[in-house]
Amino acid sequence: MDPITKILSEKVSAAFEKCGYDPALGNVTASDRPDICQFQCNGAFAAAKAYRKPPFVIADDVAAVLSADKDTFKEAVSVKPGFINLILSDEYISSLIRSIDSDEHCGIPQAEKPLTIVIDYGGPNTAKPLHIGHLRSAIIGESLKRLARACGHKAYGDIHLGDWGLQNGLVIAELSERFPDEKCFSDSFDPEKDHAPELTPELLGEVYPFASAKSKENEEFLAKAHAALIKLHNGHKGYTALWKQILKVSVGDLKEIYKCLNVDFDFWYGESDAAAYNDRLYKILEEKGLSHESDGALVCDVSLESDKSPVPPIIVRKSDGSDIYATWDLSAIIQRQEDLSPDCIWYVVDNRQELHFTQVFRCSRAAGLVPESTELKFLGFGTMNGSDGKPYKTRSGGVMRLSELIKTVTDAALERLAESDKVDPADREEYARRLGMAAIKFGDLINHRSKDYIFDLDKFMSAEGKTGIYLLYTISRINSILKRAGDAPSELCGVYTDCERDLMLRLIMTGDAYTLAMNEKAPNYVCENAYQTAVLFSRFYHECRIIDETDEKKRAHWLALCRLVRKSLLTALDILGIEAVENM
Ligand code: ARG
Repeated sequence: MDPITKILSEKVSAAFEKCGYDPALGNVTASDRPDICQFQCNGAFAAAKAYRKPPFVIADDVAAVLSADKDTFKEAVSVKPGFINLILSDEYISSLIRSIDSDEHCGIPQAEKPLTIVIDYGGPNTAKPLHIGHLRSAIIGESLKRLARACGHKAYGDIHLGDWGLQNGLVIAELSERFPDEKCFSDSFDPEKDHAPELTPELLGEVYPFASAKSKENEEFLAKAHAALIKLHNGHKGYTALWKQILKVSVGDLKEIYKCLNVDFDFWYGESDAAAYNDRLYKILEEKGLSHESDGALVCDVSLESDKSPVPPIIVRKSDGSDIYATWDLSAIIQRQEDLSPDCIWYVVDNRQELHFTQVFRCSRAAGLVPESTELKFLGFGTMNGSDGKPYKTRSGGVMRLSELIKTVTDAALERLAESDKVDPADREEYARRLGMAAIKFGDLINHRSKDYIFDLDKFMSAEGKTGIYLLYTISRINSILKRAGDAPSELCGVYTDCERDLMLRLIMTGDAYTLAMNEKAPNYVCENAYQTAVLFSRFYHECRIIDETDEKKRAHWLALCRLVRKSLLTALDILGIEAVENM
């Protein structure tokens, strides 16, 4: 289904044309004054300039044509100085609602030309704990993937695992000091018969922070870690076997956390997979004359005369011969182009990495790694702050681990559920996970992704206001109404009350919210629309006694409306990556 503003714009454009004006003037938007009308068109102002007439004369002409369409408009009036205000007829509202109800996409406008989109999000690093900086990438990226799919695109999530960086050298160097006799540290390691030691999550969790701290005070150790990393990159067999252990333990841990977050990836490619394309990258850069030596490193100039702040050259190989972060991002583009020829590659990464992506995109454009038409887009996000407005920390002031945050949130949810007699004790843990995730995900996604926001657990967990909990609560309320109604008839027919009309109009405008979210790649519009739907539903629920209604037709209509609202909210939550609960 097309969004309502598009459907109405076509009608109003036809009216402009009929009156002898350019149809492009007939653009309709939701009303700025919902107290006066539902939709509006301001095209008469632009027409006034082009046709040298007062705008209200044009608006009068067009409104007269629209008024004749009684099936669509209850009112189409021109208001001085030249607005065209529109109110839909109840019959039309009702027919739109029935179309949404029978639409397999629940009224979400489908792309005319479906695109193949790779979304690079998550970006956790092996051997290192996930911190809350990774939370936003996971939440926003997952939601954008689901949104794109819901709009008919082919979207793939790629985690771009940080598995090839210095953390590996640090862990290998540290383990080699602790377990010098292990075969994997010798050059005679034979993968056919030798094994690297089994690592445990506990050991790995302890070794990395230890080695990282050590490298900051001990230059010799740092040099050792660098040397170990280079050996790993060059295919040292024993180090490779140990690295595979690190990968296995880390990925095991990560999969559990992402499962809890209801986040999943089509591809678990890492920097190490991209690195397999490095030679091709170097060759292309050299052949095109883009790379040159600078202080022993290999770099490409990517600055432009128009740059307002300096964009330094991108380093693709360091002076010690090793490849780095930027190299893998460029190589990953070659890999993605070869595997999927995507129309778009979106990067959901912290705002602070914007310069890096500017360099990467410019370099890959110059090198022609993707066709001109391929969109390479940095979708930066802001910081999650504490109540002091500074990046969120643990009570002792350290960086908060994601697993710790998840535990804090689910504990709060468990506490709340302990008071509820509606939830079976056997379901409590799973419910607590869902509530907790709904709280943090909605609390995050309701903000435009590019903005910073304050993590406020009490606010996020509240059953009132713009929260995930409020939405789950609304759905649970609808569930209990429908349960009480049993198999009573339900059928959408007509419009009986004002509050119900407002609710139906919100459902009708939902398609526009999805279009906006998709165009801006910003799930907050989906959140806002779902919240507004829930608010209008609550009003409808309080004003209309659904179950006790004796007029059979009215009751059937209201029950059907409850069903449709539930479907619409569940669809929105699913796109946000939030799982609902039956009752709470
Ligand atoms: N691993 C990186 C980090 O922790 C994020 C990766 C972002 N994605 C990318 N293609 N560079 O900062």
